[in-house]
Order: sequence, then structure tokens, then C-alpha cells
Amino acid sequence: MNEIAPLEQFSAAPVVEACARAPVGLLAELTHRCPLQCPYCSNPLELDRVNTELTTAEWQDVMRQAAELGILQIHLSGGEPTVRKDLEDIVEVAAKAGLYTNLITAGVTLTRDRLKKLKDLGLDHVQLSIQDVDAANAEKISAYKGGFEKKREVGKWVRELGMPLTINAPIHRHNIENLPNIINFAVEMGAGRLEVANIQYYAWALKNRASLMPTRAQVLKSAEIVEEAKERLKGVMVFDFVVPDYYAKTPKPCMGGWGRGVMNVTPHGKVLPCHASETIPGLVFDNVKDRRLADIWLNGQAFQKYRGTSWMKEPCRSCPRAEIDFGGCRCQAMAFTGDAANTDPACKFSPYHAAFVAVAEQESAEATPPTFVYRRMGPAKSTPEK
Ligand code: SF4
Ligand code: FES
Repeated sequence: MNEIAPLEQFSAAPVVEACARAPVGLLAELTHRCPLQCPYCSNPLELDRVNTELTTAEWQDVMRQAAELGILQIHLSGGEPTVRKDLEDIVEVAAKAGLYTNLITAGVTLTRDRLKKLKDLGLDHVQLSIQDVDAANAEKISAYKGGFEKKREVGKWVRELGMPLTINAPIHRHNIENLPNIINFAVEMGAGRLEVANIQYYAWALKNRASLMPTRAQVLKSAEIVEEAKERLKGVMVFDFVVPDYYAKTPKPCMGGWGRGVMNVTPHGKVLPCHASETIPGLVFDNVKDRRLADIWLNGQAFQKYRGTSWMKEPCRSCPRAEIDFGGCRCQAMAFTGDAANTDPACKFSPYHAAFVAVAEQESAEATPPTFVYRRMGPAKSTPEK
């Protein structure tokens, strides 16, 4: 899963403050295990095995340290966080420490009783991902039978239990035409927020880029649909529209700027500046088993490496947007240009921009896209695991 708190809130403060202040949010990837096999999975190519996951006590310590550091929100994610039988114990400690707790879930393994228990222990918010509102298509994308109906049920429980609900809809070529129905579904569920999240192509999703890439016309149309719905649903539902990089002119400030607002803890305890940062060679990732979270945030090599603007090369170095978008996404720069310190190729000033756009145009124009390489533990396959 690739979704955390809205980025706008991190983007405006001066860089000099960035190192000294606490992150707003921590993404706790409790496990990489997941019953779904989505081709756009944002987890790394090498998944952490169950026997290497942090223990209950270690995750509880992470929660306490996060609160001490001044973090406000904990996003309990995965994989699928509900496959951890000790989720309740982790939520309870996080809530007692004063953290706002958000469960990022595919929903399919939840029961109403468990959700109620989580709520009673202090869970504040649920973010439910959907693949599509066409049940057969959702099944094809996730390789999970009956998933959509189960998600509808879970969304209903969340609202019945009085919790705020966000629907997260990763958008791509295979569901973009259904966007109006996805919006209607989120309204019907009583969601307060809908994330229309165009796929970001790094880690596993990069393997499936040619299958998933929508056309420019589809993207422009989807932006219009979101704009219209935003207006119509003012006061009912808020939208987060994750702009598709390949058709952008300037990049988003990925993660709100490197090491400025978010930290990410993997199932094994590694602390990352962003969920895809393990794709960047040369970064040293500290582990919560060896070093305090606050020390990692302030002094960890991986957090220091691209924090602020001093690491930038041209054209970012002298660009007036340097402290607005922080040069875009380091992982995308790495994936497309081979150097994480390069300007994000989504930027029109990048020498790689034309090639970047050409890839999207060429892949999206293919009449028959390649079959999905499904996400699963073990070797990659084009047929889902049963
Ligand atoms: Fe942003 Fe760098 Fe492009 Fe300027 S050159 S808009 S700082 S990515
Ligand atoms: Fe790593 Fe953008 S995903 S910086």
C-alpha cells in the first residue's frame, strides 16, 4: 500500500526547520503478508518474511518512541496489517501513547467483532482500499475472490461503529473508466475522504507499468471528473487526487520532501525515509532494534542524504521551485535516470522528461497490454496464486 497522510500539509515550512522538527506521521508496515496479489503493490521487491517481523513488544516500543518524538499520526499498514494477531495490542499502546491511529486495510480479513474491539481499544480511523466497484474486475486485479462484497460490508461496519472512513482507490488503465462509479460508491459508503491515487511506478508496480498505464486522454478526463465531483460534494466528501507523474509538468513534493514529515518502519524494523527508498543504492537504513527513532530521524544517514536542498544538482539547484517540490521523487529519479540525485523525470526541466513521457504514451497506446505480474511471496508469476 502506498498511501499516507495528505502531502500538502508538509510542503510549506522552511528547510532549516525540517531537520529539527518531528515528523507528522509514521507508516508502520506491520507485515508484508497479504491475501491480495495486486500488480501495483508498493512494497519492495524483496518482502520481509514472517519470522523476521518485529515482535509485539518491539512494535509497542516503536509506538511509544513515536509519541515521545512528537509524531501525531500512526498509519498501521502492510501488506495487510490485520493478519497480525497482535494488532489489538499494538493499537492499544499507540492510542494510550496519544497517537492518532489509522488502519490501512484491504478489509478482507476483518470481522465486525474485531473491528469493534479495535475501536474500543482506541482505533481512530480506517482507510479501506478498493480495486474497483465492478466485482469481477476487482477480483481480476487483486486475484482475490469475493473481495469487493467483503469490502462493502467492512465499509458499512466502519460507519456503523462511528469511525471516519477513507476509501483508497488506486487508479490505472483497468479501472479508470469506472471512476464516476467509484466516487458514487465512496459517497454511498459514507466516506469522508476519497483518495484517487494514480499508480506510482516504482518497486513492484514498475514491473507492471506497461499493463497499468492509462492514456493521457483518460487521465485528463479523470481529472475533470474529480474536479466536478469535488465541487458537487463540497461538505460531503474530500478528495485526494494523486497526480499521475508521467503526464505531469512539474513533480509533486514526494513524501512532502525527503526527511521532512514522514518516516516508515518496515516489518523487520528498518527505518526508511519513504516506502520505496530501498531501491536507492548507497543508503544506510538503521533498525529500531539498534537505534532510537529520534536519533534515526535526526542523524540517520538515509534521512540526511536527500534532506533539504544542498544535495541538489542542476536544474533543481537554481530553480525557484526547489523548496516547493524538493526536486520531486528520489525513487522515481533513481528508477528512470539511474541517479537518485537527478531531477525527477516528471519535471519538464529534466533532460529525461521527453523520454519519460514517451514511455507513457507508447505503453498506454498498446491495444492489448501485457498480462499482470501478480504480487506474491516467492517468485513472480503471471497467474495468481490460488
Ligand atoms: Fe522542481 Fe527541480 Fe523541476 Fe525545479 S527543476 S520544478 S525544483 S523538479
Ligand atoms: Fe521515494 Fe518518492 S517514493 S522519494
